Amino acid sequence: MQKHYTGLIERYRDRLPVSKSTRVISLCEGNTPLIQLQNIPRMIGKDVDIYVKFEGLNPTGSFKDRGMTMAVTKAVEAGSQAIICASTGNTSASAAAYAARAGIKAFVLIPEGKIALGKLAQTLMYNATIIQINGNFDQGMELVKEVANHAPVSIVNSINPFRLEGQKTAAFEIVDELGFAPDYHCLPVGNAGNISAYWKGYKEYATERVCGNRPVMCGYQAAGAAPFLAGHKIDNPETVATAIRIGNPQSWDFAIAAQQESGGWFDKFTDQQILAAQKMLSQFEGIFCEPASATSLAGALNDIGTGKIPEGSKIVCTLTGNGIKDPEIAMQQCADAKPVTIEADLDAVKRAILDCL
Ligand code: F0G
Repeated sequence: MQKHYTGLIERYRDRLPVSKSTRVISLCEGNTPLIQLQNIPRMIGKDVDIYVKFEGLNPTGSFKDRGMTMAVTKAVEAGSQAIICASTGNTSASAAAYAARAGIKAFVLIPEGKIALGKLAQTLMYNATIIQINGNFDQGMELVKEVANHAPVSIVNSINPFRLEGQKTAAFEIVDELGFAPDYHCLPVGNAGNISAYWKGYKEYATERVCGNRPVMCGYQAAGAAPFLAGHKIDNPETVATAIRIGNPQSWDFAIAAQQESGGWFDKFTDQQILAAQKMLSQFEGIFCEPASATSLAGALNDIGTGKIPEGSKIVCTLTGNGIKDPEIAMQQCADAKPVTIEADLDAVKRAILDCL
């Protein structure tokens, strides 16, 4: 028995591509809570068990840390002195943190003006070299693939297969905790690495003694950035959920395979629906995720409502990132709930409280 939790590579060492001599670069990622929703199922009047896998509680506040511990561990093992990624924000924060931990350099390409404030602040603090481009994530991704042929840098986007290896452990944790795989697994889909990784994880666990079932995979996109619904890549993706503002998903084939093999589906939701789900989760469950993450709940609630996900189902929604990463959207969401300012005396405080009861 291990005394301390030391990260997902140690926990799932026998299922990951590391050897005894591998120097593991870890920030104790993974082991995130699987929280059963209590109030929302009651409010919608449906007999369903909805769990959220709160990946916003990883060291840099998103699920990216699962993939990054593996990708950076393997980059360092291969002798790499620098890593690079394109990002909508979370990958850049995670890459920067793990590079700092490893003592190597991180370069990140981000779309100028389209990164949530918290993600930018993190990436700066971890001391990555930030290259802002006048373009979107998809253009950044193409540039990163090009430049890696011309400079000694390892790509740590999810096209790096070690990323998916790390990320598949989220499915392991869910099965280990529940004792079975859920009936439905709902995820936001952007570059499509995460849905691919979960499916890999469930398949690896389902084929052994661990659990006998696999979930139906439900991939949800923002309406303005929904290439899987269009059936082809799109040029100018747009959504308030900047994390998934992606038109040319790199893991297209894996994600289609996950959907088809699991008997699942893709769907898309408007910014308004996504923001409503984010607010609902904060307000009624005390769980604050970033907008993109709430797409999973928006989708699940829609599909429960229409009966596509039947009553009696056990559903897991991945909440991919922490709400405090995007304070600007949060403040906009709460524009009507401005704090009152009063004199610093007892009567005024008393009045302020009584007015609200
Ligand atoms: N949710 C959040 C919070 C994300 O940051 C991302 C992707 C996704 C969902 C979608 O996951 O790409 O595996 O389908 N963010 C990447 C980034 C693109 O650069 O941080 P995916």
